[in-house]
Amino acid sequence: MTPHVEPDPQAGAAVKAADRAHVFHSWSAQGLIDPLAVAGAEGSYFWDYDGNRYLDFTSGLVYTNIGYQHPKVVAAIQEQAGKLATFAPAFAVDVRSEAARLIAERTPGDLDKIFFTNGGAEAVENAVRMARLHTGRTKLLSAYRSYHGATSTAINLTGDPRRWASDTASAGVVHFWAPFLYRSPFYATTEAEESARALQHLEDTIAFEGPATIAAIILETVPGTAGIMTPPPGYLAGVREICDKYGIVFILDEVMAGFGRTGKWFASEHFDVVPDLMTFAKGVNSGYVPLGGVAINAEIAATFDKRPYPGGLTYSGHPLACAAAVATLRVMEDEKVVEHAAHIGENVLGPGLRELAERHPSVGEVRGTGVFWALDLVKNKETREPLVPYNAAGEANAPMAAFGAAAKKNGLWPFINMNRTHAVPACNVSEAEAKEGLAALDAALAVADEHTA
Ligand SMILES: Cc1ncc(COP(=O)(O)O)c(C=O)c1O
Repeated sequence: MTPHVEPDPQAGAAVKAADRAHVFHSWSAQGLIDPLAVAGAEGSYFWDYDGNRYLDFTSGLVYTNIGYQHPKVVAAIQEQAGKLATFAPAFAVDVRSEAARLIAERTPGDLDKIFFTNGGAEAVENAVRMARLHTGRTKLLSAYRSYHGATSTAINLTGDPRRWASDTASAGVVHFWAPFLYRSPFYATTEAEESARALQHLEDTIAFEGPATIAAIILETVPGTAGIMTPPPGYLAGVREICDKYGIVFILDEVMAGFGRTGKWFASEHFDVVPDLMTFAKGVNSGYVPLGGVAINAEIAATFDKRPYPGGLTYSGHPLACAAAVATLRVMEDEKVVEHAAHIGENVLGPGLRELAERHPSVGEVRGTGVFWALDLVKNKETREPLVPYNAAGEANAPMAAFGAAAKKNGLWPFINMNRTHAVPACNVSEAEAKEGLAALDAALAVADEHTA
């Protein structure tokens, strides 16, 4: 696939200049960034104004699950814009009803009521509000090595360093260690040990915090940004049991892992676990229009049958976003996108990444499923010392920066977080594209290898 537009560096320079003058970017020291001016995107690729094309192994921020500019979804948004571009949330609107129905049809168990938000963080905020009102308790438990969003409660729930600047230490959040065998907080050497010890640690934390003070436990089903750590067998079922034992609401955050990314509609299907509340966003409509939400089980929904739910959003269930969701879910069904993601994981990315790990001293561990993979880069395979220290910046982060630059030079836009690169292309990435990505990673890992010892 080639860019449809001729290179136009002058236009790119104008876009960049206006951006630098007026756009205030997320998570950045504004004076130190140099955002790439993007001229267009299609499928798994995007390109700049200078004629450089990149294979997107990030899916944006892990959300373009059906790639860029899918014609059927673009057409559905255009059609909806011509028919009813917007309507207030208190009304029943055809496309909103249909989006809710299609989502509820796919969510597990009795998670059959959908509260729509504009994105993931708002979904988390509302799931927490529901859990607190349902239980009459306030405290929340969440994992270190997690990301739940950047609004006030969501960022406090988050376990990565992005929390620190916004940590009010008063949001009623207690963090615990979830399982991660490769860097086991429990000195475990097998998955069974890791699972059992992580569950014991969680139950001990609950005992010392006071079970009757805890409204909810929130976990990403498979933690995403924090490193794609698929939980060991039995862990999530164990958390479910603990929640039932103490009357704690179990929230699974599927904002990143949901809608095909792990090779199932929802990651929870891999573990046969049904939470009380499930948050979603991103892949629900491939991010073509902002949309997120909470899928609510029958018991919690009933709490708000006669009592008003004290939360709402002007754009809850926005018709354009819902039209994009309806079209995306139909495309995923018709084109067997979820099955395809599973196939790419099993037959292309999984074996390909493991083969890279065998050849490159910088790859400590490969983990993942579907189109949701992490390479844990290390200085030394034996010691597992990360290639760069936790939360490294500047010179300390130079090895990862060099890896990233090498990937881009080879036409791959990589996802990088701390000492990891994630291979998270669109769920409908072709076999050829996935192999092209593996080849570019191979070249970039040669640069990372130079920093091993
Ligand atoms: C698991 C998870 N939860 C919540 C969020 C927050 O979503 P948003 O950025 O749409 O607010 C993210 C974003 O990456 C996420 O990965």
